[in-house]
Amino acid sequence: MEKYYLEIPTANRKKDAINYIEEFHIFNSDINGTGGLDRFLDNYEGWLNKLEEDYKRIPNEEKVPARTFFLVRKSDNKIIGMINIRLALNEKLKKFGGNIGYSIRPTERGNGFNNINLYLGLLLCNKYNIDKVLLDADLENPASWKTMEKFGGRLLREYYDDVYANCTVRDYEIEVKPAVLNYKKEMEQYIDFDNFIV
Ligand SMILES: CC(C)(COP(=O)(O)OP(=O)(O)OC[C@H]1O[C@@H](n2cnc3c(N)ncnc32)[C@H](O)[C@@H]1OP(=O)(O)O)[C@@H](O)C(=O)NCCC(=O)NCCS
Repeated sequence: MEKYYLEIPTANRKKDAINYIEEFHIFNSDINGTGGLDRFLDNYEGWLNKLEEDYKRIPNEEKVPARTFFLVRKSDNKIIGMINIRLALNEKLKKFGGNIGYSIRPTERGNGFNNINLYLGLLLCNKYNIDKVLLDADLENPASWKTMEKFGGRLLREYYDDVYANCTVRDYEIEVKPAVLNYKKEMEQYIDFDNFIV
C-alpha cells in the first residue's frame, strides 16, 4: 500500500516545488493551497520566509496564521499535492476562503489523492483543537466539493459570489473530530505515520 504524508517545505525541495507549480501552468490549471508559492517562483527562499511569518502571525482582519505543506508520496518522494491550513479565521475568510485550500498536481488527479490530502489536513486541525473547518468550492469544481462531502462536509449555502469568484460558490462546514474518527479505518492505511507532522 502506497503511503502519503504532509511535509514542511524546506530549501531542499526548491526544484520539486517549482516543478509542481510549472505543471499547473502547463495544464492551465487553477492553483490553490500553495501559500502563494506561484508568486515566488524566482524567490523560493523568500517563500520559505513568508511561510514562517504566516505560521507566527497574530490574526488580524487582513491575515491569519496559516501553515502550508507538500503532500508527498513516500515511494517516489514526489510532491503530488499541497494544502494550506488557516489556523484561525477573520471575517473576510469566514465569507470567502475558509480554513483550507488545496491542490493536486494535474498529472496525479482523479486517484483519490485529494481525499488523502484533506484527511491529513483534518488530522492536523484536530491537533490544533479546531472543532469545525469552513471550506468553499466553486459549484463547477465537483472534485473539490466532493472531497468536502466525503468527510461529512455539510453544505451551508450555495450562492452567486460577485465579489471574489464571479461564479456560484458552495460553502461547507466539516466537524473535525467526527470526520477524523469516522474515516480513521479507511484513511489510516494511506498515512505514513513515521513522517507525521504535529
Ligand atoms: C480539486 C482537486 C484538488 C481535486 O483533486 P483530485 O486528486 O482530482 O481529487 P480526488 O481524486 O481525491 O477526488 C475527490 C472526489 O472528487 C471526485 N472527482 C474527482 N474528479 C472529479 C471530476 N472531474 N468530476 C467529478 N468528480 C470528481 C472523486 O470521485 C472524489 O469523490 P469520491 O471520494 O466521492 O469518489 C484538483 O482538481 C485540483 O487541484 N484542482 C485545482 C485547484 C483547486 O481547484 N483547488 C480547490 C479549490 S476550492
